[in-house]
Amino acid sequence: MKYVRIFFAFAGVALLAVQFIRPAKNHSQEPPGSGIQSAFPVPGHVLQTFRRSCYDCHSDSTVYPWYAEIQPVGWWLNSHIEGGKRRLDFDRYATYRPMRQYRRFKDIIEQLRQDEMPLGSYLFIHRYARLTPDEKEEVIRWSGTMMDSMRAHYPIDSLERNRTDPRSSR
Ligand code: HEC
Repeated sequence: MKYVRIFFAFAGVALLAVQFIRPAKNHSQEPPGSGIQSAFPVPGHVLQTFRRSCYDCHSDSTVYPWYAEIQPVGWWLNSHIEGGKRRLDFDRYATYRPMRQYRRFKDIIEQLRQDEMPLGSYLFIHRYARLTPDEKEEVIRWSGTMMDSMRAHYPIDSLERNRTDPRSSR
């Protein structure tokens, strides 16, 4: 019995201690002109969908839930934000090279078609972030149009690496 009490006392102290190790909040300010809407015509609806359903992990302005203050939950959320932003940051989209922009449009279409995004664990709590079938279609169609217009402006080998190039998967 005594050991059980000692165990819980230690666990409690450890849990208290980790509360002080907090990831920095994701609220950086990109220079104006870096966002996706600076480089591409984003219709209001599409931007709204991105803001509502994707920006928490793919932009510089995460809206944090209260439980982000509780560790280790905050660390876990932070890992999604870091991982998400590394792959796709709407607030930096205009600074990407054309090949990366093109590739990300393709990825967005793929992720939505396969219902991979937004992350399931996120939707479980943020039910409003789920895309309606219409919203999904709208974003997919728009992303496809952006790919078409990029192909009209750039030679194709500046948008897609040839398939034998080992870097082509990313
Ligand atoms: C809860 C956080 C979260 C939300 C919300 C979210 N994502 Fe992601 N997203 C991630 C993470 C984490 C990764 C990186 C996954 C990996 O590396 O495998 C990612 C990766 C991606 C990628 C790159 C996939 C690839 O092929 O590597 C795309 C495209 C993407 N997300 C699109 C979206 C879109 C579009 C939305 C909104 C409809 C969205 N995401 C919402 C966390 C999120």
